[in-house]
Amino acid sequence: MEQLRIRGGRKLNGSLSVQGAKNSVLPIMAASLLNRGITIIHNCPKLRDVDVSIRILEYLGCRTQRDGNRVMIDSGGMNRSDIPDKLMREMRSSVVFLGAILARAGRASLSMPGGCELGPRPVDLHLSAIREFGGDVEDSSGQISVKLNRSCDALASRHIAFPISSVGATENAMLLACLTPGTTSITNPAREPEISDLQGFLRKLGIRISGAGTGIITIEGQPEIDSGLVEHRIIPDRIVTATYLSAAASAGGHIELTDVNAEHLEPVIGSLREMGCEIEIKRGGGSIEITRSRPLHAARPISTKPYPGFPTDAQPPLMAACLMAQGTTVFIENIFENRYRHLDEFKRLGADVFTEGKIAIICGVSRLTGAEMQATDLRGGAALVAAALGAEGESNVGILHHIERGYERIDLALKALGADIELVDV
Ligand code: EPZ
Repeated sequence: MEQLRIRGGRKLNGSLSVQGAKNSVLPIMAASLLNRGITIIHNCPKLRDVDVSIRILEYLGCRTQRDGNRVMIDSGGMNRSDIPDKLMREMRSSVVFLGAILARAGRASLSMPGGCELGPRPVDLHLSAIREFGGDVEDSSGQISVKLNRSCDALASRHIAFPISSVGATENAMLLACLTPGTTSITNPAREPEISDLQGFLRKLGIRISGAGTGIITIEGQPEIDSGLVEHRIIPDRIVTATYLSAAASAGGHIELTDVNAEHLEPVIGSLREMGCEIEIKRGGGSIEITRSRPLHAARPISTKPYPGFPTDAQPPLMAACLMAQGTTVFIENIFENRYRHLDEFKRLGADVFTEGKIAIICGVSRLTGAEMQATDLRGGAALVAAALGAEGESNVGILHHIERGYERIDLALKALGADIELVDV
């Protein structure tokens, strides 16, 4: 079984170009089903979740071709509207295919693996949005089947109001609206940069859509889309950027991250600066340099929020950088119920941490020592690696499939930043 072997306690030094965003490429791969032509996606990261999405597209009857960080999808031959349980279980975020399949085929059927490592992952907001489009939803024993009763009134308009911000439900509503004639307005949508990237892609399909990143998204749907050849470049991954910045804060040293968008991670940069990191943003936000030369001090309380607040996905890696900060850092995790599983692993390094419901308390210690650890989930696993880089001696991190879902060869990326890390078979 593969593990990451990390010899920590040494400063990082190097430069790295950051991968394309997992949480942007997944909905855009689903959205390629709307285009009966050919879609070429550039800056597509090589991830386990992308592999599963390609298998889903091929199962649905699409032709795909991958060449490095470029993926071609020809959905002309789509001939299915279901996703088998096995594929659904491999990637929980496959639910984002629901809206695209429904929009294209008028029906969809997939299993809903209830929870994941982060706790229960309900889909009630997805289903209530689908019903606004005339979807007839059958939801029994974990299987969801939907049939669209498309009204003949092409001028029909609909209004979807989300009670809370949901990235996936917003994406499903956007994709369904594209192939539903009439005007759809979505209020209280998620405002993440990945939503704006999806809007950019849909505009290339010829869809009249506006408002992504604001409180109202408006879409003029049409009966069919055949935009021929459409090409799109995925935005940089802001959470991977936050992870490598946190690794440098944990280990110390000086690194440069390029092909990033600093605007997308302002709250993370703010907390790292509060802790004493020197951060320089260059090339109009396309490059970030971080230097950590002195012991860090604790940040002000960090409360995770929908964008533009502090991102829940950056909570675990940033917490790694707090383990040896002087003072106590308080985290409040408002988005997911079970997103502190990495704390028990941190304790193996000698961290002084504890949780009380949504709150995690990080009491900085003067040193950490290497340990055997196991990844509990995607971002928690990456956080263990960041923490191990600041710990003296050797650490091993196992159960790497979690990390491979969202980080393109994290060992090679960190090696490029000067870390003593290698993938070993044990
Ligand atoms: C997306 O998940 C991301 N995944 C997550 O990143 C990210 O943490 C999350 O958004 C929040 O930013 C992808 O984009 C593939 P939500 P998603 O719907 O869409 C509740 C990572 O590490 N909710 O915005 O599933 C839900 O329980 C992953 O890359 C409902 O109550 O998240 C949560 O508390 C982890 N009912 C909150 O909304 C619903 O129908 C936000 O979830 C849907 C969601």
